[in-house]
Amino acid sequence: MAFDPASKQHEGGKAFRNLDNSWKALDGIKNSRGLYQKLVLLFLVVGINIVAFYAFSSFLKGQEKDSRHGYSPDQLELKQLGISSNILIVKLGQIKEELRNTQEQLQMAREDLRNTLDQLGDLTRAHLTALQSDPNLEKLSGFENRMPDSAELLTYIEPRKLPLGWNPSLNSDTMTSSVGHRCLEQKEDIKRFMDYAVGGVCPDDEALAQKLLLAGCEPLPRRRCFAHIPSNFSEPYPIPRCHWEGPPDGSIVWTAYDCKSFECLNTRAKRKIFADCLDCFDLNGREKNRWLFESNQLAYTIQEVLDLKPTGSIRIGLDIGGGTGSFAVRMREHDVTIVTTSLNLGGPFNNFIAQRGVLPFFMTIAQRLPFFDNTLDIVHSMHVLSNWIPTETLEFILMDINRVLRPGGILWLDHFFCLRPQLDIYVPMIKRLGYKKLKWGVGEKLDRGRELQEMYVSAVLEKPLKRS
Ligand SMILES: *[C@@H]1O[C@H](CO)[C@@H](O)[C@H](O)[C@H]1NC(C)=O
Repeated sequence: MAFDPASKQHEGGKAFRNLDNSWKALDGIKNSRGLYQKLVLLFLVVGINIVAFYAFSSFLKGQEKDSRHGYSPDQLELKQLGISSNILIVKLGQIKEELRNTQEQLQMAREDLRNTLDQLGDLTRAHLTALQSDPNLEKLSGFENRMPDSAELLTYIEPRKLPLGWNPSLNSDTMTSSVGHRCLEQKEDIKRFMDYAVGGVCPDDEALAQKLLLAGCEPLPRRRCFAHIPSNFSEPYPIPRCHWEGPPDGSIVWTAYDCKSFECLNTRAKRKIFADCLDCFDLNGREKNRWLFESNQLAYTIQEVLDLKPTGSIRIGLDIGGGTGSFAVRMREHDVTIVTTSLNLGGPFNNFIAQRGVLPFFMTIAQRLPFFDNTLDIVHSMHVLSNWIPTETLEFILMDINRVLRPGGILWLDHFFCLRPQLDIYVPMIKRLGYKKLKWGVGEKLDRGRELQEMYVSAVLEKPLKRS
């Protein structure tokens, strides 16, 4: 121990025996001053040893004396060193008492908690029982009954507990996968869509997926199968080559389309086939010149539209129903990033847009735009926002566009189509947005004859910075 550095004894009991010997040896040399100092040091260490001994052996075992050594620490004359072991013992006794009280309180708290949990359990059971007799619950179980009889679909939509428990950001301990409620009205189709070997290759059913989307089953459920890969996929060409050169036929799964090649798609216009965006796949035709040169009261160039705003303030945006993505490609030349929404109606529009090095979003016009409020600099739509959309739906769409446009952002309505009498519906609807008209043009569409009273409206409108 410390008072005898040479000593290799590390046990309390042996130290005390050692001390006993030292005590006797020191009896005859009390008059030596140097020795007295050593003695003081010795007693200090002895005192600490005794306290330690009390604290860790006899005290905790509730023993007053250490009988194993035939020795009582009380017998030591500690008072000589100004240390009162009695005081220490009293203090330790008090601590022991406090510990015992704390233990009792802890025990009581534990019982309280158990009672509370029991009561909570009872309440929950009572609540569930009440719910089950609630007529409103029939709606819930009715919902279950209306589910298509597909185990994989049920697996998909079943709410699941988060593995790490409550997530404060989600404010939930559960994750729910969503599908549009209209899926329930498409029982046979959604059942077929979810009928596949889990972990296997998905059925080649792009047409079915799009049919479901168009019937309002949007978003579609995810599937645990491997999506089809085209027969001979080629790496895309680098920018700018890819902008104006479509992918090879082998990069497309053609099953869903009447045409089985780009050659076929490019000649649709000549063959007088009815389809949307008839000549859009022909990148050497009309596509090449759009928004570049022709400028009149209905057709504006990208340059003149961008010039309406401070240089560089238009950077990101959306093209609704953007065909094969030529608008996004042209905007990219001005360092503007455009997302193009498109379906694959009659042709592989999404693959084609992606191959051109711009972003396709595969979604219908019925879905809420997947952007946050006040975020986009520009929303453009050509031919798509027109009188074929139910009036109320169109109003919802315009208000959703307003939501995602940032203040000062622009809505470019490009060739909005309607009949002359319908201008009385659509012009006030557009005006209700309260946007500033940066460009505005109304013109006749004459290619099928004046008597049809077909009209176009083109406008570049600026969202206000404030709404009072
Ligand atoms: C696969 O695609 C490449 C590039 O387009 C083409 O050269 C090749 O002939 C194609 N092979 C087959 C078997 O179609």
